[in-house]
This record gives sequence, structure tokens and C-alpha cells, in this order.
Amino acid sequence: MKVKYAKLCAVVAMAAVTAIWSGCTQNKVEPMKATEIPDGSVDPAEWGKVYPEQFKLWKATSEQSPAGLSKYKKGSDVGGHPDKLDEYPFLALLYNGWGFGSEYHEPRGHYYMIQDQLEVDPGRVKAGGSCLTCKTPYAPMLAKEMGRAYFADPYKDVLAKLPKDQRTLGVACIDCHDNRTMALKISRGFTLGKALDAMGADKSKLTKQDMRNLVCAQCHVTYSVTKDKEMHSTDVVFPWHGSKVGNITIENIIKDLKSSPANGEWVQSVTGFKLAFIRHPEYELFSNGSPHWMNGVTCADCHMPQITVDGKKVSDHHIMSPLKNGLVACAACHEEKPEVLRAKIFDIQDRTMIVYLRAGYATATDAKLFEMANKAEKSGAKIDKALYAQAREDYEQAFYRVIFIGAENSTGFHNPKETMRVLTDASMYAANADAKLRMLLAQAGVNVPEKIDLELSKYTNNRGSKKLMFKPEHEIKSPTR
Ligand code: HEC
Ligand code: HEC
Ligand code: HEC
Ligand code: HEC
Repeated sequence: MKVKYAKLCAVVAMAAVTAIWSGCTQNKVEPMKATEIPDGSVDPAEWGKVYPEQFKLWKATSEQSPAGLSKYKKGSDVGGHPDKLDEYPFLALLYNGWGFGSEYHEPRGHYYMIQDQLEVDPGRVKAGGSCLTCKTPYAPMLAKEMGRAYFADPYKDVLAKLPKDQRTLGVACIDCHDNRTMALKISRGFTLGKALDAMGADKSKLTKQDMRNLVCAQCHVTYSVTKDKEMHSTDVVFPWHGSKVGNITIENIIKDLKSSPANGEWVQSVTGFKLAFIRHPEYELFSNGSPHWMNGVTCADCHMPQITVDGKKVSDHHIMSPLKNGLVACAACHEEKPEVLRAKIFDIQDRTMIVYLRAGYATATDAKLFEMANKAEKSGAKIDKALYAQAREDYEQAFYRVIFIGAENSTGFHNPKETMRVLTDASMYAANADAKLRMLLAQAGVNVPEKIDLELSKYTNNRGSKKLMFKPEHEIKSPTR
């Protein structure tokens, strides 16, 4: 794995940014001390006896972050917990047919990860124990002990195997640290470990910088909950086959997802297509040649800056959006004032949002055109099968690109150029599908209006018993074609 660590210090100096970054002036943080934490200690309170500062910060992920500092990631500070289906109604159309079409919240603090699963629409944990894979520190043990049953058994049954007082415990010290040396480690060999092997990465050569990304990549990545013929979950697999570390492209991800029917996790109700899914690909987007990645900057540099607590320099284990804690992390490398950096982030995010909405609504329009074509065929019209297949291919290419960026949680910031490339391609594919669908519908004698009614309220309402928890500040309208 190549991380241009030395280059960063050079670039940082050249770019006239203050060279107070830890990487350039190493060992600012107190060196790790070997610990007496017994093997198998999962409860962070045990670790907290030796490392009270990190424990206190880790616990603080339960706190509400200051309202209004982030533009697109309100977290839990708006009195609710924003649902992407309310914020981006076209997603309610696209995801109709399974759990993600009922409820799909924006992330919030690490403390809540299991609690949020317990409160979510039950459709969202239908896949079974697999849903615990990036939620509980017990996941690796459960997967080892239970084998296949871990992935397929009902969510509640697998959760019930945990000690009673640990069933709502989210990401814990043991997920990222070795209990004896405190070195960073990959605890999820059964998912991330396997995925790195599949890319031919040499796990024995991982540097500390690599680990500052990879501990996060245990969960902040996309994955498939693979299925057998009866649609029982069989595994959790990252679609990284054919990619390389530092170059996991959307093209390869889509190719990998489409290469096996086991990735078909759900049926999209509007089109009737069985599809794969893409979830929070923070690591993939960031590592695919972003300027920060190319300069050796890591997830921890921005999300776990060095701060002083009770007189001690520690890594901030209160992980959150950098916008919500005054962008202190950036100051380690950038001289600009926080207001200037904030404006830069918002500029990147606003541009992303415009192109994202355009691509998203165009893809949703395709879905409605498929619905019309399917209906026409049912009532006896002749549909050009070859053209339909081509349109479907274009549509899926657009769909996976839109949901890739939509699920990625930085609204483009982690890799602005790549985000634009992916979304521009999404729009192009969506337009191609649109043209083909209109042609085949015309040939079938179906009258297609210029502007397609997406019937969004049909999908945004009636999503189960839950009430709308969050009202977008700006009414988001479908851009006119
Ligand atoms: C064991 C899995 C796991 C690991 C490891 C993990 N995360 Fe998370 N992270 C999550 C989940 C799940 C959520 C969403 C929680 C929720 O909304 O209930 C989340 C949420 C977040 C958020 C949003 C917090 C907020 O206040 O809204 C940030 C930022 C974040 N993670 C960054 C990181 C970084 C950086 C790392 C590595 C240092 C990391 N995470 C490691 C699973 C993980
Ligand atoms: C150069 C700094 C930087 C790096 C490196 C970085 N991030 Fe971020 N990250 C940000 C910013 C800025 C945002 C946007 C936050 C917002 O909109 O509130 C963000 C957003 C996020 C969010 C959503 C936060 C929320 O409140 O919902 C998650 C999760 C996240 N990053 C995880 C990661 C992971 C995992 C990595 C490494 C693979 C990483 N980040 C690398 C700066 C960074
Ligand atoms: C999501 C991953 C993650 C979790 C969970 C986590 N840490 Fe860390 N921790 C890190 C990272 C990243 C560093 C920086 C290490 C480095 O650069 O070598 C770190 C550093 C540390 C250090 C070294 C001193 C410092 O602050 O940099 C200690 C001690 C530590 N963590 C203790 C804990 C304890 C105790 C817990 C549980 C309460 C915990 N960590 C949970 C990722 C994590
Ligand atoms: C560990 C050092 C480091 C940290 C921390 C860091 N950056 Fe950077 N940043 C860099 C380097 C190096 C570059 C590339 C500079 C170049 O290529 O000229 C860069 C480039 C950028 C750019 C693109 C160039 C520009 O100025 O328009 C932006 C925007 C940016 N960083 C914002 C941020 C923000 C916001 C944060 C905090 C959330 C942050 N960075 C944290 C090192 C860092």
C-alpha cells in the first residue's frame, strides 16, 4: 500500500501551511504505554481505567453537537434525526420496495449506532445478524462462533447472544486497538481483511498512516449482504474485486456488484428490477486519488485531531463532522481562518448538491419510464426487448453512481473532482436511458408527456408508521428538464 507520507511533509511546507502537523513533528501525543487490559475485554469502561481521557471523549459521541454549523449533516441537532428520504424525495421513489425506502437516516454520533437500529423501521434489519457487522464490537466473535448463521439468523436473535448490558454498545476501543500494545488494528478480518486480500494488499506491510484510514474503513465503506437463492443472507462482502488500494473506482464497484446474482439484495418496486445496493463509501471515495489522500492525510487527521484534555495531548475520540468543532483539525495544516475553510467546504458541497439533485431526479424519471413500459407490455403493447435491455444497462449505471455519492457522507468534500466526475457520468447515463425509453415507448404507441410526473408523494408518504421527523429548510424541487 502506497501512502506518500514523506511527500506530505514536503508538500505541507511548500504549500506554505503551518508545519505543526503531527506527521511532521512526530510524537507530540504521549507515547502508548503497554497495558494490563486483559484479552477479550470489550467493555470500554475497563479500558477507561487506564485511559480516562480517551474514554471520556469516546463517551461524548452521545452528546448533541452544536446546531447549524454543518450545512448538510445536521445530525441530531435539529430536534429530530434527518431522514434522507425527506431531504431527497427522489430517493423515496428509487428505494421503494424495501427497508431503505421506509427509513434512511443521516448518521449521528457513534454512541447511537445500535440504538438507532433498534428504533428504525424493522424492514431495515431484515437481513439478519449481518446488520450487526459494523455496529457491535462483538461482530467478529459472533461471526467466528456462529459461521453462516450469524449472517442469516434474525437480527434480534443474534443481538440476544451478547451480554445483556452490552447490547447497545457501539464501536468500542477493541474495534480499533490491540489491548496489549494499543497499536491500531483491524478487528474485522472477516470483512475488511478479506477485501484487502482480494485486492492483493500485503497486510503485513501496513504503516501507521494506513491504519489511521483502515480502522475507519472497517465500517465506512460499501458492502453487499450477499444472498442465496432463497434470499437468506450468506455473508458481508466489499465489492472491491478488481480494484487496487487507492483506486477503488465506481466503475469497478458496479462491475463487481453486477458480476454475481448474490449481490441482488432487493427488488425496486417502481421498475421491478432486482438490484444491488451501495452504502456509505467514505473510504472508497476518499482513497480514490483525492488531494488529501495523495498527500498522505488520513481520516483520523480530520476527524480525530490532537487536542489537550486535562493537560494531556490526546487524539480527539469524540469523532464528528469537522465543521461541528470549529475545524480545529484543519488548522494543523492550513493557515486559512476557519471561516475561509468553512466557505471552501460549503462551496464544494453546494456544487455537489446541484449536480447530485439533477442526476438523482433524472434517474428517478427513468424509473417512471420503465414503469410505463412495463405497464404497456402487460396490456399487450410490443416492447423492443433489445432497446429495453440497453436502457436498463444505462439506468443501472446511473442509479449506482447516484446512490454512491448520495450514500457517501461528505457531500463531495472527501474528493470533489471525483464526485463531479461520477455525477456527470450519472447524468449522462440517465439521459441515454431516457432517450432509449422514450423511443421504445413511442414505438409501442405509448404517448409520453415531456415532463414525467414522479408521483413523489406516493413514495414519501405512507412509509410505515413513522412520522416525518425532519422538514427540509428549502423545499427541494425537481429541476425542470
Ligand atoms: C464499527 C464500525 C465503525 C467504525 C470502526 C467507525 N465508524 Fe464512524 N460511524 C459508524 C456508524 C454505524 C455511524 C452512524 C451512527 C448512527 O447514526 O447511529 C458512524 C458515524 C460517524 C460519523 C458521524 C458522527 C456524527 O456526529 O454525526 C463520523 C464523522 C464518523 N462515523 C467517522 C468515523 C471515523 C473517522 C472513523 C475512524 C477513526 C470511524 N468513524 C470508525 C460506524 C463506524
Ligand atoms: C481533509 C479532511 C478530511 C478527511 C481526510 C476525511 N474527512 Fe470525513 N469529512 C470531512 C468534512 C469537512 C466533512 C463534511 C462534514 C459536514 O458536512 O458536516 C466530512 C464528513 C464525513 C462524514 C459525515 C459526518 C456527519 O456528520 O455525518 C463521515 C462519516 C466521514 N467524513 C468519515 C470519514 C472517513 C471514514 C474518512 C477516511 C476514509 C474521512 N472522513 C476523511 C473532512 C475529512
Ligand atoms: C474508531 C477507532 C477508534 C476507537 C473506537 C478508539 N480509538 Fe483510540 N485511537 C484511534 C486512533 C486513530 C488513534 C491515533 C493513533 C495513532 O495515530 O497512532 C487513537 C489513539 C489512542 C491512544 C493513544 C493516545 C492518543 O490519544 O492519540 C489511546 C491511549 C487510545 N486511542 C485509547 C482509546 C480508548 C481507551 C478507546 C475506547 C474508550 C479508544 N481509544 C477507542 C482510534 C480509535
Ligand atoms: C494533515 C494535513 C492536512 C489536514 C489536517 C487538512 N488538510 Fe486540506 N490539504 C492538505 C494538503 C497537503 C493539501 C493539498 C495542497 C496542494 O495540493 O496544494 C490540502 C488541500 C486542501 C484543499 C484544496 C486546496 C484548496 O485550498 O482549495 C482544501 C479545500 C482543503 N485542503 C481543506 C481542508 C479542510 C477543510 C480541512 C479540515 C477539515 C483540511 N483541509 C485538513 C493538508 C491537510
